[in-house]
Amino acid sequence: MKNIVILISGRGSNMQAIVNARIAGARVAAVISNRPQAAGLTWAQQNGIATAVLDHKEFADRDQFDAALMTLIDQHAPDLVVLAGFMRIVTPAFVAHYANRMINVHPSLLPAFTGLHTHARAIEAGVKLHGCTAHFVTAELDHGPIIAQAAVPVLDDDTPETLEARVLECEHTLYPQAVARFVAGGLQIDGHRVRDTQQVA
Ligand code: GAR
Repeated sequence: MKNIVILISGRGSNMQAIVNARIAGARVAAVISNRPQAAGLTWAQQNGIATAVLDHKEFADRDQFDAALMTLIDQHAPDLVVLAGFMRIVTPAFVAHYANRMINVHPSLLPAFTGLHTHARAIEAGVKLHGCTAHFVTAELDHGPIIAQAAVPVLDDDTPETLEARVLECEHTLYPQAVARFVAGGLQIDGHRVRDTQQVA
């Protein structure tokens, strides 16, 4: 059984999708939020999952917060750390500690539109396809090896909100599949490329 620790900052709909996927061979050991008011915490508690809050505002700097977060995460002996709407930039030491066992979902087809406000920027840029990416986390923000991507059309009358809703729906399918592939043990990282030797999903 592989232990998964999920980090959230808010709603936690991707966390819910992963829990609801009931991935064979995986157990969600804990859900941890940097924001005490994150709605996803309530859902996790109601579903019998251990939760914890580590408020970044109570730490003097990013290094101290990340060190405390590592200690908290490691209490659950994670095989995989899943960032699911965790809206914090993590330090190189944190990334190194979870090298090749920490993944993120990003609301764009990377390497396009790294960072924030991806849906508004996609509309502004006039792209006809947008989407989401599951990737390993490396020290360079939103640039880690890509596990899987899914695309959605950008429609003429889209607003950032309508486009976000379409992308979020595909995140909810893509991200649990990416977690399942990691858990199945078939992902091999080769430079920027990820190969899946198991093809479970
Ligand atoms: C998701 O759209 C996720 O891709 C995005 O935040 C949202 C979280 O929603 N993450 C990022 O932008 C990370 N840079 P959720 O809390 O409902 O899963």
